[in-house]
Amino acid sequence: MNTSKNDKNKVAQLYDHIAEIYEESMKPLTHFQDSVESFLAENVSSGHRVLDIGCGPGHFTSALPLDVEVVGLDISKAMVHVARQKRPTGTYLVHDFHQALPAELGKFDIVVANGCFDFCEDLAIVFDNVSEVLASGGRFYFTINECRTDLPFHDARWIDAAGGRADIRMFFWTFSEISNVLEKAGLQPLTYRHAPGWESVDLQTTIYYGYWVVEHLRNKDKSMK
Ligand SMILES: C[S@@+](CC[C@H](N)C(=O)[O-])C[C@H]1O[C@@H](n2cnc3c(N)ncnc32)[C@H](O)[C@@H]1O
Repeated sequence: MNTSKNDKNKVAQLYDHIAEIYEESMKPLTHFQDSVESFLAENVSSGHRVLDIGCGPGHFTSALPLDVEVVGLDISKAMVHVARQKRPTGTYLVHDFHQALPAELGKFDIVVANGCFDFCEDLAIVFDNVSEVLASGGRFYFTINECRTDLPFHDARWIDAAGGRADIRMFFWTFSEISNVLEKAGLQPLTYRHAPGWESVDLQTTIYYGYWVVEHLRNKDKSMK
């Protein structure tokens, strides 16, 4: 497992600086749009509670119907501010996903974490945090960097996300690490594919993602952990 840590203030500052322009500037560089949008279209129903982790400006969940309750979390204050403006009925909080989610948020039918686990330093903690708030039978969509020795940089456990410019690490996990940690957290894989995630201008390469949809096992026996 990775032991390196990021200075969280640096991550927050990086995204604070680009919060206002993030959506428009990233659109031509990302490949994940269709995956996250189809997941939401197929899985979110009227009355659902949806948690958007690392929500950024909230563009994927801000337009969900108003009878869906949306909660968004992000480490960047400026991202949270932009997300709130886009969906004033939503609840948006500054929160680091490595920390336990506030219990008062309750349980969610749907959790999405798109493009933010690049900065996940401890999968076991983060998946446990999600498992705690995902309702029994609820679904969790996430993307994650996977170690693949056949792709540039993907034989590393972490790389500098902006080619040294920002001193921020982006982490990679093996398929078996991801699967094992999901199982321990009581999260059962439903679908998985490995495909392009986004184009890194700094690194001049395509960053690939594992795209996962997992379901919270009903009546998970915590003593099995
Ligand atoms: C690449 S953006 C993705 C934003 C949005 N989910 C999307 O799909 O466009 C990554 C987001 O993750 C947030 N982030 C990074 N580390 C985080 C952490 N430890 N806890 C919460 N959010 C984090 C960043 O502030 C940023 O808004």
